[in-house]
Amino acid sequence: MKNIIILSLLLICTNTFGQTTDIAIIPEPVSLKVQKGSFLLDNNVTINDNDLEGAKNVMHMLTGYLDANYGVKLSITGPHPNGRSIRIEQDNQFNQKEGYGITITHDFVVLKGTAQGLFYAVQTFIQLLPSVKNGALNLPLISINDYPRFGYRGMHLDVCRHFFPTEFVKKYIDYLAFHKFNYFHWHLTDDQGWRIEIKKYEKLITIGSKRNGTIIGRYPGTGNDNTPHGGFYTQDEIRDVVKYAADRFITIIPEIEMPGHASAAIAAYPDLSCFPDESTQVPKGAAWSGSTTGKQVQQTWGVFEDVFCPTENTFTFLENVLDEVMALFPSKYIHIGGDECPKESWKRSPFCQQLIKEKGLKDENGLQSYFIQRIEKYVNSKGKSIVGWDEILEGGLAPNATVMSWRGEKGGIAAIKEGHHVIMTPDTYVYFDHSQNKHEDSVTIGGYLPLEKVYNYEPVPPVFTEAQASDSMGKAKFVLGAQANLWTEYITNPRKVEYMIFPRMSALSEVVWTPKAKKDWSNYQRKLPAMLKRYEFMGASYSKSYYDLQSSVLPSADFNGLVWKLESKNKEGHIIYVKGRSNNATFNYSKSLVISANGEYGAALSRKDHTFISNWIWQKFAFNKATGKKIILKDKPADNYPGSGAFTLVNGIVTTEKLSQSSEWLGFLGKDLDATIDLGKPQAIRKIALDVLRQEGSWIYPPSSVEFLTSADGRTFKSQAIVHPGTNGNWPNERKIEKEFSNLNARYIQIIAKNYGIIPSGQPGSGTPAWLFADEIEVE
Ligand code: ACM
Repeated sequence: MKNIIILSLLLICTNTFGQTTDIAIIPEPVSLKVQKGSFLLDNNVTINDNDLEGAKNVMHMLTGYLDANYGVKLSITGPHPNGRSIRIEQDNQFNQKEGYGITITHDFVVLKGTAQGLFYAVQTFIQLLPSVKNGALNLPLISINDYPRFGYRGMHLDVCRHFFPTEFVKKYIDYLAFHKFNYFHWHLTDDQGWRIEIKKYEKLITIGSKRNGTIIGRYPGTGNDNTPHGGFYTQDEIRDVVKYAADRFITIIPEIEMPGHASAAIAAYPDLSCFPDESTQVPKGAAWSGSTTGKQVQQTWGVFEDVFCPTENTFTFLENVLDEVMALFPSKYIHIGGDECPKESWKRSPFCQQLIKEKGLKDENGLQSYFIQRIEKYVNSKGKSIVGWDEILEGGLAPNATVMSWRGEKGGIAAIKEGHHVIMTPDTYVYFDHSQNKHEDSVTIGGYLPLEKVYNYEPVPPVFTEAQASDSMGKAKFVLGAQANLWTEYITNPRKVEYMIFPRMSALSEVVWTPKAKKDWSNYQRKLPAMLKRYEFMGASYSKSYYDLQSSVLPSADFNGLVWKLESKNKEGHIIYVKGRSNNATFNYSKSLVISANGEYGAALSRKDHTFISNWIWQKFAFNKATGKKIILKDKPADNYPGSGAFTLVNGIVTTEKLSQSSEWLGFLGKDLDATIDLGKPQAIRKIALDVLRQEGSWIYPPSSVEFLTSADGRTFKSQAIVHPGTNGNWPNERKIEKEFSNLNARYIQIIAKNYGIIPSGQPGSGTPAWLFADEIEVE
């Protein structure tokens, strides 16, 4: 009877929330129950010691954390503490290897799980504490049961384009641990620097880890900084970092790139090239520092033709390198790159052509496959497995390889169909080098990847059913998990690394940890302010772009002007705007502004006391006869560069910075642009222009031709001119492709811009379809 009374009392007090208003755990746990009341965590609380190593480590971690951050000193007791206490209970048979439970009552806190689970329990526990140093630590009374959705939860860091010292690499590993990630993909070799000491080949460090300078700004750059850049990790440092990560249940996967991205290795050992006597090619238009004679470490970004030659000398070198790498990294997986390997030098090389014949290979793709399969055999013979970027599918996949799908999801889908494991890292969702805001505040590689898009990523591609994707335990069978990549061409320092990963990494943590059914964007948004405070508390920088003013430009109701709409997620302030940069008069924004003439407007989120919450955003509007008019596109742009649909082409906004406002560009991958505009009434037309982007480094090419057509009725169109912007790579530098007319009168205008086609050899992305990027159509 007594038990029944206690049980019913408990039921009355228990309030089981899926979402609670003040508990903000990211990633969201599998199950979280909350009761009224709190547990006071102060110096009177004891914590139990434990014989088991995992529990002991966690005990030290937790006591150290509480002391360092809050000055709370717990006293350590025997295994069975009395009174108000924290009890750490290691259970190696816990039902999930990475799972844990937390129970907090008025009198005690229990953390339960395997050693790894307990580690994650502490990460969750930390999120129950306030992000301020002073004040009482009142913990909510909760019960949590938690375990991850995916076994592979990864973050990548490129230390080649810019070097980061071990202290920061450790901090990065701490960030991974805090978000319950368990794999760190360390990108250690590339064209711009070799970063790992290999005892047998010391020139990899004395020559390969240094470059004489770096381009300034976005590729191809406005010059060269003429400042040497270098750095490498000694084997002792690597061992230290590997141990540091292992203590945090993080496996480090080293990446040794081959057969492409090999310039730094070739600079050290020219015989690894098919053409050892040829000097390194400096990309057109890129400024260079120092000598261009002989083999050089690259100073700019992109893809380079001088790759590893598949000779016995190269294989011996790579096997020796891999021997040292495999001895340093206990990881089962060794990443061997495999991406972006141009086939130019193999095509020119009599040795490679002979090898293709001898081995009965189809072509140079077959040779790439031969290369990767040979390395795979070697790695397998040492009891390890290879991971490679999705280009390793070309010419035939190595039998035991795990594929990292980065060029969207299609490589991953193809590999799954061949029965391979995949790790999803699609550039469209998890390339954290892409911009997170539309009004960019520093140079990035381009693209627009806001927080919400990361959050809504689903690693099991929708073409597979849950049954096809999962084993009988409900675990993904082929999709091991997902990973975000951080390429550092435009990330030169630790503060910017933090800025680029936070808070997007927290969104990704829910993608890879939280059960699909419990993922909830609105609940995540509720928790985000608490997470940002945690980043501040740990002294990390982060992006506030989630709170940026969002501006959109729409057609006016009569198609004779534009409407500028402003919104903010931050409800603390109100939006103000100004007309023109030199105008001091500010206006309160209450509804969308109708804009009908050229001008520049600024807006910001202001507090009552006239201080600003947000940065100012500025928008220039430039009107022409097509601005705000009805427009239709025959084919939609690609999903990752949709702009705001066809209207983007007539919205009066001409982007001023290459890729920075990438939401202003419509991107067509391998496809043509075919747009028709209704000017509303017949008009005299003196000139028509199409704004396009030329950025070969990002696979973006001007169209091969642009045809201008007109019509009086919108049905029968007459071709007025075809412009060929350039041939054989001799593109003009200007962005606008335009044509002047005399005596032309029309109501409808059609513009057909033909895609460039396949990217030529020797260029980044060669052999794949080119992007066509268009911004504005201007009619005068
Ligand atoms: C890659 O981004 N080239 C894998």
